[in-house]
Amino acid sequence: MTDRGPKFRIAKFLKIIICTVLFITLVLFTIASVRTLSLDVNIGLQLAQWEKVNNIAPDINQRQREELLANFKEAIRIPTVSSTNTDINTTALLEFHKLLRKAFPTVFSSSLVHHEVVADYSHLFWVPGTQPALAPYMLLAHIDVVPASESDGWEAPPFSAKEIDGFIYGRGTIDDKQSVMGILQALEYLLAKGYAPRRGFYIGLGHDEEVSGFQGAMNIVRVLKQRGVRLAFVLDEGLAVLDGIISGLEGPAALIGISEKGQATLKLSVLMTPGHSSMPPRESSIGILAAAIKRLEENPMPRLFGYGPERGTFEHLAHKFKLPLKFIMSNLWLFSPLLGRVMERRPDTNAFVRTTTAVTMFNSGVKVNVIPPLAEAYVNLRIHSAQSLQEVLDLVQSTIGDQRVKIELVDGFDPLPISSYDEKSFGFQIIKKTVLDLFPEVTVAPGITVGNTDSRHFKELTNATYRFAPTWFKPGDPQRFHGINERISKKNYEELVVFYFHLIQNCDTEKLPDPHSSVHEL
Ligand SMILES: *[C@@H]1O[C@H](CO)[C@@H](O)[C@H](O)[C@H]1NC(C)=O
Ligand SMILES: *[C@@H]1O[C@H](CO)[C@@H](O)[C@H](O)[C@H]1NC(C)=O
Ligand SMILES: [Zn+2]
Repeated sequence: MTDRGPKFRIAKFLKIIICTVLFITLVLFTIASVRTLSLDVNIGLQLAQWEKVNNIAPDINQRQREELLANFKEAIRIPTVSSTNTDINTTALLEFHKLLRKAFPTVFSSSLVHHEVVADYSHLFWVPGTQPALAPYMLLAHIDVVPASESDGWEAPPFSAKEIDGFIYGRGTIDDKQSVMGILQALEYLLAKGYAPRRGFYIGLGHDEEVSGFQGAMNIVRVLKQRGVRLAFVLDEGLAVLDGIISGLEGPAALIGISEKGQATLKLSVLMTPGHSSMPPRESSIGILAAAIKRLEENPMPRLFGYGPERGTFEHLAHKFKLPLKFIMSNLWLFSPLLGRVMERRPDTNAFVRTTTAVTMFNSGVKVNVIPPLAEAYVNLRIHSAQSLQEVLDLVQSTIGDQRVKIELVDGFDPLPISSYDEKSFGFQIIKKTVLDLFPEVTVAPGITVGNTDSRHFKELTNATYRFAPTWFKPGDPQRFHGINERISKKNYEELVVFYFHLIQNCDTEKLPDPHSSVHEL
């Protein structure tokens, strides 16, 4: 008896443990399954509650179709290139201003529209509403583009706006002249049809977004702040309609950016006494700095998948994945650590998992037989929404763990605040409705932009900033962004005009439908 006692008790104890584990697994599985199924049921109700609105129809005829494409092509042909803060083509920007006046005569002559030039080359339009009590909103886009050279392998010269197989090629076709021209073309057509908005709105066209918007966007913000303007929401560039880009997802997805990653640019330097290469010290400035860089690369920032807005993206898209992905995406509360490990294996998906660390410059030495005193490197980090700039700086310092490496912050900012995307979020729901009216087959979800936009300067004017245009991206298209063969289909450009045409009218909605109402109650 004394022998058998403990063994028996251990066996019983194990049994209890196994049963408990099985029970917990079963409970988790049941919760997960219910969540997976309930997502399926919810999708049918996406827009059921909206009243029928009597928007003016765009009715674009053949003459207008030719006109809007000709205007767009002219915009592409003007090389409004921003290379650095001090190297922007101001001649091209002035020429662009002339084009806007020529292409949109009604916008520039209508008594409903107030236009002003800001910081010499940016544009601010104000269209007051007939109901001043409705908070105004703002549409943003930028006129400048990144440099492009035909010799990089373009199929058509980058400022030619040449048509190939139904596509218009050129720098700026998807970043961001499609929105600059699309917004104003829509306003031109609305005004021509006698439209006057109930809700007032601003249009801001920055001229130096590609070099941080310190002139254009920041001065537009300064002007609006002086006037005490508060915005219901801001819509800027950012995300797009992704068709066949997210692996495993059925059908296209329109991702509306609700936040942007933060940034930090760090300068690392090591300064040692100089010497002759015939009598080298045990450690050189190059060796010390290289070791520090290696430690940064070997110890990436912590995995944070599921702690930022990327969680909302997958939860909204979950029902469009096949099993087992659908099951996993619907239950990030359980699976986000697992999914984070899978996503970190590819650079493009790793960007959503953590703060990324990129070593971009490394300089030292001038002569083969001189030990250089100074070694310098630059590191560019893109900060995940669940981390702050300060936390990132502290982590870099402790990872490097070497006092001889001087770390300086060249510039940086925290991740942008997360804009809301629930049923009560006016901007998000208006954008979503406009997308679904135009493209019923698309799934709309919140997303995060890994690059930065002019809208980041607007955070004191609004709590609701969205980053989206209905530009369609198919496989291979994301590489055209800031890359070679940037292009847009003629059909898609026209869709953009129609999108803004309806968006402006949909914003006249006074308030959103009650999320709990249903069609039967109307
Ligand atoms: C600047 O733009 C003008 C057209 O507006 C163009 O003629 C000129 O070549 C551009 N300059 C550079 C350096 O690209
Ligand atoms: C943002 O939200 C806070 C809290 O709800 C509010 O106090 C603040 O005025 C809002 N800011 C703007 C610019 O609307
Ligand atoms: Zn852009």
